[in-house]
Amino acid sequence: MSLIRSSLVLIAATGAAAFPYNVRNSTDSSLNAFIETETAIAKQGVLDNIGADGKLVQGAAAGVVVASPSKENPDYFYTWTRDAGLTLAAVIEQFNAGDTSLEPLIQSYVDSQAKLQTVDNPSGGLSDGSGLAEPKFNVDLSAFTDAWGRPQRDGPALRASALIAYGNALIKSKQESLALDNIWPLVQNDLAYVGQYWNQTTFDLWEEVQGSSFFTTAVQFKSLVEGNAFAEALGQSCDACSVAPQILCHLQDFWDGSSVVSNIPTSGRTGLDANSLIASLNTFDPAATCDDVTFQPCSSRALSNHKVFVDSFRDIYSINQGRGAGKAAAVGRYAEDSYQGGNPWYLTTLAAAELLYDALYQWDQQGTLTVDAVSLSFFTDIIGSNVTTGSFSKTSAQYTSLTSAVKTYADGFVSIVQEYTPSDGSLAEQFTRDAGEPASATLLTWSFASFLTAVSRRNGEVPASWGASKAGTLPSQCSGETVTGSYVTPTPGSW
Ligand SMILES: *[C@@H]1O[C@H](CO)[C@@H](O)[C@H](O)[C@H]1NC(C)=O
Ligand SMILES: *[C@@H]1O[C@H](CO)[C@@H](O)[C@H](O)[C@H]1NC(C)=O
Ligand SMILES: *[C@@H]1O[C@H](CO)[C@@H](O)[C@H](O)[C@H]1NC(C)=O
Repeated sequence: MSLIRSSLVLIAATGAAAFPYNVRNSTDSSLNAFIETETAIAKQGVLDNIGADGKLVQGAAAGVVVASPSKENPDYFYTWTRDAGLTLAAVIEQFNAGDTSLEPLIQSYVDSQAKLQTVDNPSGGLSDGSGLAEPKFNVDLSAFTDAWGRPQRDGPALRASALIAYGNALIKSKQESLALDNIWPLVQNDLAYVGQYWNQTTFDLWEEVQGSSFFTTAVQFKSLVEGNAFAEALGQSCDACSVAPQILCHLQDFWDGSSVVSNIPTSGRTGLDANSLIASLNTFDPAATCDDVTFQPCSSRALSNHKVFVDSFRDIYSINQGRGAGKAAAVGRYAEDSYQGGNPWYLTTLAAAELLYDALYQWDQQGTLTVDAVSLSFFTDIIGSNVTTGSFSKTSAQYTSLTSAVKTYADGFVSIVQEYTPSDGSLAEQFTRDAGEPASATLLTWSFASFLTAVSRRNGEVPASWGASKAGTLPSQCSGETVTGSYVTPTPGSW
């Protein structure tokens, strides 16, 4: 485990040059230039929205990630546990890749969450863990008490994963006691939450429908697998982590044979939803095989779902005119969406790219790419009807043809983001379906974070393995087994 981790960190630190990989970079100089400029803007865009020093979020407490500076139509001047966890995961990746200037910010995030876990709120409190799944708080870390879609049970899992990524970096740099004193108490609470509540209904990541959510289930599973390894590394134990196989078992319920039905019940929708792509971005493990059970980005399931999902947007947005099958298209959350115009989103279009960059990384690592009956239609769309099923080794002409087409397709989604990004580089939440103009919340933190992770993957920079390859075994029968947690009051750390 530690060997794998350190070699990956080495790769991450040295970037694209570490890959003898002939199709990774586009020859499109306009796209490369955009990526370079926008990367700097996105990094600053994230920092501008984090308190206490973020220049667009005055009043936010230290370490608090504000969703957007927008205070009206829509008012996103709050901190969401989900957005913050995903954003910090991107920040911690940059820290692990060598940007040590980010460490004080990461530590103030940890401290802010130590405070937040103790705040009583409409979802509950800490004594039985129920308050941990409160979706959003005021930026001064007080409870938000208006009506809302609550609880949202992905939050504790995403926060645990972000904290574990930093905790593992501390262990690696021989600061194990900081990980034990300042990180473990928070992680322990979040893992206990997942083990106790995973089998209850939740609001989905878009805060709209209540039921079982593919994304929530996927990130819960991952948090317990990496949580167990983190506990072991610190000489601790994680009772909640024993239910991980049951969560993975439930995850299989969302697969319909060609795509993921993201919400159960479907609430009158098809179920095709960016929920499923973002789930695979989070279960991505650079050391994993193309495993269907954990929906790895290079799995046949993830690729088939990618095709069916992207196709669902081709005819509904006028800006997608001319972007037929096999061509990158602007994508939103789900086709039935009407929120703030129900437009394409930057972060979902970037997710469509990132999933393919992840897959390219995995094929490169494994030295082979397999096309099967499930993934065939994904490949025929982007290459042509001459694609056949089979396993193709890295040295074959077919492998080169297949991976080049995937790379071009992936870059196409980033080019769409380029086309609809204003010249100042600001990324809102959405861009309009008819004109491609920025819409809804301005300067969305998650949009910037998703740009950073998509581009990192494009450059061959990946997070550490979380142990997917050892965790993909299903129980013979699914059960809703849970473990009642015990919760400790964390105190903000001394670093
Ligand atoms: C790939 O492109 C990025 C910019 O998008 C650049 O920084 C990097 O050096 C390029 N890598 C190679 C191997 O050409
Ligand atoms: C609880 O687990 C069972 C067994 O996997 C599953 O059938 C059910 O859908 C789950 N319910 C929720 C809300 O997770
Ligand atoms: C399919 O045919 C195209 C030309 O039409 C060729 O460029 C490509 O290499 C072929 N791909 C495979 C996988 O055979």
